[in-house]
Amino acid sequence: MLDFLGNLERTHYCGELRAAHAGQIVVLMGWVNRRRDHGNLIFLDLRDRTGISQIVLDKELIPDGHAKGEQVRPEYVVAAVGKVRLRDVDAINPKMETGEVEIEATQLLVLNDSRLAPFSPSEEAIQNEEVRLKYRYVDLRRPEMQRNFRLRHNITLAIRDNLSQQGFLEIETPILTKSTPEGARDFLVPSRVHPGEFFALPQSPQIFKQILMISGFDKYFQIARCFRDEDLRADRQLEFTQVDLEMSFPRQETVFAVVEQFMAAAFAAAGVTLATPFPIITYDDSMRRFGSDKPDLRLPELTDVRPAFTDEALATLQIDPALPVVAFRIPGVGELSRKEREDNHPIFDLKKGAKFIDDFKRLAKGFPEAAVKVRELVGAVEADFVIVVAGDPAHAVKASDTKFPGRLSEREINVYSAAGNFRTELAKKYADRHGAFAVTEKVVQEANDQSGGKCVDGSEAFRPIWVTDFPMFEYDGPTAKWMPAHHPFTAPFEADMKNLVADPASVRANCYDMAMNGMELGSGSIRIHRKDVQQQIFQSLGISDEEARARFGFFLDALEYGTPPHGGIALGLDRIVMLLAGAPSLREVIAFPKTAKAVDLMVDAPTTATEQQLKELHIRVALKS
Ligand code: AMO
Repeated sequence: MLDFLGNLERTHYCGELRAAHAGQIVVLMGWVNRRRDHGNLIFLDLRDRTGISQIVLDKELIPDGHAKGEQVRPEYVVAAVGKVRLRDVDAINPKMETGEVEIEATQLLVLNDSRLAPFSPSEEAIQNEEVRLKYRYVDLRRPEMQRNFRLRHNITLAIRDNLSQQGFLEIETPILTKSTPEGARDFLVPSRVHPGEFFALPQSPQIFKQILMISGFDKYFQIARCFRDEDLRADRQLEFTQVDLEMSFPRQETVFAVVEQFMAAAFAAAGVTLATPFPIITYDDSMRRFGSDKPDLRLPELTDVRPAFTDEALATLQIDPALPVVAFRIPGVGELSRKEREDNHPIFDLKKGAKFIDDFKRLAKGFPEAAVKVRELVGAVEADFVIVVAGDPAHAVKASDTKFPGRLSEREINVYSAAGNFRTELAKKYADRHGAFAVTEKVVQEANDQSGGKCVDGSEAFRPIWVTDFPMFEYDGPTAKWMPAHHPFTAPFEADMKNLVADPASVRANCYDMAMNGMELGSGSIRIHRKDVQQQIFQSLGISDEEARARFGFFLDALEYGTPPHGGIALGLDRIVMLLAGAPSLREVIAFPKTAKAVDLMVDAPTTATEQQLKELHIRVALKS
C-alpha cells in the first residue's frame, strides 16, 4: 500500500544535514539508495540530488514504519519524518558528508515503489551505454551525472551573466528556417501548408546574427541550439548548444577579449582559474609546432630534427628530404617493447605519405650520431619516449600536390598532421605511464575538483589557445578548384583582398579558432560587410549569381541597407562542460543525447510517421525493400 503525501512539506535536502542539526525534527524525501536490515533496526540510505542521509527505523519506536521498511526496495520513493541525532563514535562514516548524523524516524511514508532498475544509481556507470541511455532517468540519478548537470547549469549561468555585463543582449533566432552554410547536412522539416517545400533547422544562427548587426543591436549573444546531420563522435552530437555571439565594429582582438572574459567566468564557476589573455598562434605555426590546428599545449611540441640527419642517412632511411622531419617526446614513457610498437602502427595513418622511426635502438646502430642528436634536439631525458616522423618518398607526388609559395603544401601538412595525430594518440594511450604528466581526463577532473584546475605536477590542466591566419581557400586537387575553407561570409584580410583572383593561395581569412587541450572549442571570424566583396567571394568560390540569390538572396539584400563591419564567434557549450567535467564524451553532459548510431534510445526516435501524417505533409516514403 502506498502512502499519500498529504500536507507533508520537506524541510531539508538529504545531503544538507550535519552535526549542527542534531536535535532538530526534519522531513526528508527521496529515493532509497540502499537498505540494510538488522532485525529490529532497518537502515535506509535516502538519496536526493544533494546527497544521502541515513534513516533509522526502530521497530520499538515505529512498528508500522519498520514494517514498511521491510517492504521497501532500492529506488522506492519515501518521505521520512524524524529527529536528527549524532551517531555513536564507532558508527561515524567519514566517507559520507552527512556521516556524523542519522535520522531517528518517527514516521515513514512510502510514496511510490519502483521496479528493479536495470542498474543501480548508487554504483559507478555500467559499461553498457545503450542500457544507460534507454533508462536515462535512472542513469541521471547517479551523483556523477547530477554533478555534471549542476556544473553545466553553473557554467551557463556564469556565461549569460558575464555576457550581459559586457553589454550583450540575448536574442532568440528561429528554429524553423532556411538552410545555413556551415557545411553539414541539414535537417529538413516538410511544410504542410506549402506542399513540396521545406524548412531547415539551423546549423547555427550565423545569418540571423549578422542580420541582427545590420539591425543595429551592436552586441548579440544566444545560448543557441544548433542542428547538424553529421556523423557522430565523442565530441559531436546531432543537436548541440553554442554560446553564439556577434558584435559590430570589432577587431579580432576585441572578440578575443570578450571570449576570454566569459570563459574565465565560466571556468571560475567550476572552480578553475583560467589565465588571460590566451596565447595566439598562426595556423602555419600551429601545424609546424603541434601538427594540428587545435593544439594540445599540455604535451611537448614537435621539433624540427632535419639537421640531425645527413643526406646519406635520409637516403638510407628512405626519408623524403624535401619534406619536414620532426620528432616529439612523450615524457615518462621510456622505450616501448617491440609488441607495443607494433600495436601502435594502426594508429599511424601510413596512407598519408608519412613514415616514422620509433625504434631508437635500431637507429642508434645505423646512425648513432643522428640518434643522439635527435634526442638532444627534442630535449629528451632518459625516461622519454621519442619518435621521428618524416615524409615518405614512396608516396608519389601527385599533380594535385601543388605547392603554393608562402604556405604549407598538402604534403607538408600531411607529415605534420601525421606527427600531431601520433603525438596526441600516444600521449592518451600511455597517459598512465606519464607519472606527473597530466593528460588523462581523470587527472584533469581530480585537478579540477581539488586544486583549481592544476595538474598533479602543478601545471595548468586547461590550456586554451587562439589559432589565427587560416588560409581563406583550400585547393581541391581532383577538381583543380579553390574551395572555401570556412563559411562564405568570412572576410579575407584587407591586405590580401587584392590577391583574391590572381593568387587565391596567398589569401588569409580573418577568422580564428579557439582550442583547448587538443579540442576545438570555438570558431569565428570578422565578416564580409560589403556587398561587392561578398559577390567577389561568391565568384571566387564558383557560386553563381543565381545560386547566391536562391540561397542567400535575403541576406545579400540586407547587406545593401547599411551594414556595419561586424564579427563574432561561437563556442561549443557542451564541449566546454565536457572538458570541465572531465567527461570522455558529450553524452555525459547532454541530458538526452543521441547514440553514435544517431538514435534516441529512450524515446525511441526517429520513428516512422503515420499514413495520415505523411499525407498531410504531401510526402511519400520511397524505401527499397
Ligand atoms: P562552427 O561550425 O565551427 O562555427 O561551430 C562552432 C563550435 O560549435 C561546436 N560544434 C559542435 N559541438 C557539438 N556537436 C557538433 N556537431 C558541433 N559542431 C560544432 C564546436 C565548434 O567549435 N557560425 C559559426 C561560428 C561563427 O563564425 O561565429 C559556427 O557555427 O565547439
